[in-house]
Amino acid sequence: MSSRVLSSLSPLLPPSPPLFFFVGAAILLLLLFLLVCSPARGSLPSLPSLPLLGSLPWMGGGLPPHLLFSELGHRYGPVFSLLLGPHLSVVLNRHQEAREVLLQRGREFAGRPFMVTTDLLTRGGKDIAFSDFSPLWKLHRRLVHNSFSLFGEGSGRLQDIVLSSVDDLCVELLSGGGRGFDPSPAVTRAVTNVVCTLVFSSTYRHGDTELQEVMRYNDGIVQTIAGGGLVDIYPWMKVFPNRCLRTLKDCITVRDRLLSRKLEEHKASLNDGPPRDLLDALLQGQGEGVQQEGGGITDDHVLMTAAEAFGAGVETTSTTLLWILAYLVHHPPVQRRVQAELDKQVGERPVCVSDRSRLPYLECVINEGMRIRPVSPVLIPHTAMTDSSIGGHPVGRGTRVLVNMWAIHHDPEHWDKPDLFNPDRFLDDRGQRVTPPCFMPFGAGPRVCVGESLARLELFLFLSSLLQRMSFKLPDGASPPNLQGRLGVVLQPLPYKVVVTPTEGWEGGAK
Ligand code: HEM
Repeated sequence: MSSRVLSSLSPLLPPSPPLFFFVGAAILLLLLFLLVCSPARGSLPSLPSLPLLGSLPWMGGGLPPHLLFSELGHRYGPVFSLLLGPHLSVVLNRHQEAREVLLQRGREFAGRPFMVTTDLLTRGGKDIAFSDFSPLWKLHRRLVHNSFSLFGEGSGRLQDIVLSSVDDLCVELLSGGGRGFDPSPAVTRAVTNVVCTLVFSSTYRHGDTELQEVMRYNDGIVQTIAGGGLVDIYPWMKVFPNRCLRTLKDCITVRDRLLSRKLEEHKASLNDGPPRDLLDALLQGQGEGVQQEGGGITDDHVLMTAAEAFGAGVETTSTTLLWILAYLVHHPPVQRRVQAELDKQVGERPVCVSDRSRLPYLECVINEGMRIRPVSPVLIPHTAMTDSSIGGHPVGRGTRVLVNMWAIHHDPEHWDKPDLFNPDRFLDDRGQRVTPPCFMPFGAGPRVCVGESLARLELFLFLSSLLQRMSFKLPDGASPPNLQGRLGVVLQPLPYKVVVTPTEGWEGGAK
């Protein structure tokens, strides 16, 4: 590595031999000093680093982080450290250490680092996902969790919301008339509609201007957060003109205008009865814990939670659906087996939540989709809140931990032929469902995804209803969906086209 640095310096060296010797020796010593004297990184294997730049010069090559970390893992081992600019970060490529950090020592590693983009997005950490660990964050997370549970399984409310959106989606997909089309816009619209209904009871028809607005700002935020890059490593860079940050601020303004209006409408009509939606549930629970240090749950917290339901709940769920559809188009026998299970267990009536236990193979297909293409291939960074250790290596307070779920979900020590789409790996010899410990698409521990049960319910109801009512295949002559994906805020499939054919009796899409 130093040879690369030295060779890049060689044109700068003057010709005189004695001077050449002294200058060369000085540069060499300086480089050695910089390499050796970068911040202490304990006993972990580490990438080299330079002050200010950290290990960034050794992280080139254009690979997205999950693939870069997997490749570096072959050289440095499953756990190694690097400097992201000035920030000491530990990368975990193996499930044992990931479980240690997320579960066994979950509380010690439940912090989040400060980032310029997410600070803007969340009014200084008034959300759940990017807020650092604190008593107020715990209270906020509990309130959100309870509010989600109110509309989750059991209550039937969420099922009604999702099924109504599914009906619209099926009608729209089947109106394609057998022509090849990209399913992504319709799927994203359907999932956005579920979240809009869940959060503020608005249901939109296709083409509604308010729904378009929600989808536009959400997409703008997702695209710019993904491009935040250097400003999140070097916060002082925010003083320079930055097109991404400007777009982000514009989208946030539109988002906040719309959500504030919904919040005011809800406050004006709030009563003590059962909550109509998530905003009601949050407003009703707002008074609890006002004694907390740093105040209680403010209107900003409520607003940021509503915003996060879109930010964290739309792109992840719709992208997971699109990955699974892409794999089903690649694997027609898997699609037919899911449909045979649906035929046998459900027949012609609409699918409902209580069918979940009767459709184990479909659940395995969903799991396999999330294993092979985790939409969050590297989890949101965690930070050590105290001096701790990982795999016996000391780790100092403030260290960032990057869990590479991609590497864990593709670890050949734990997954037979990890690059093969094989839902049967989630069934044991007796055909019973199993969940291996190295499968963690929603993370684990104190920072596990708050929307996990909601997302699982949506995935189940969307996929079961779609596959009951229609079949997906490639348009004639088209090449199959590209399965490499592209990393934005989530790992997405590249656009692809499908042809849908209705199942007999479901020609209209809904009954
Ligand atoms: C297939 C869909 C989804 C997947 C795969 C997914 C995955 C994840 C992952 C991997 C994390 C990070 C865990 C960590 O940092 O250790 C996370 C966090 C989070 N997710 Fe999800 N998610 C999904 C859907 C949702 C939905 C529908 C919502 C809400 C409506 C949601 C809300 C959140 C929140 C608030 C956090 C932050 C939790 C915290 O930091 O304490 N997610 N999710």
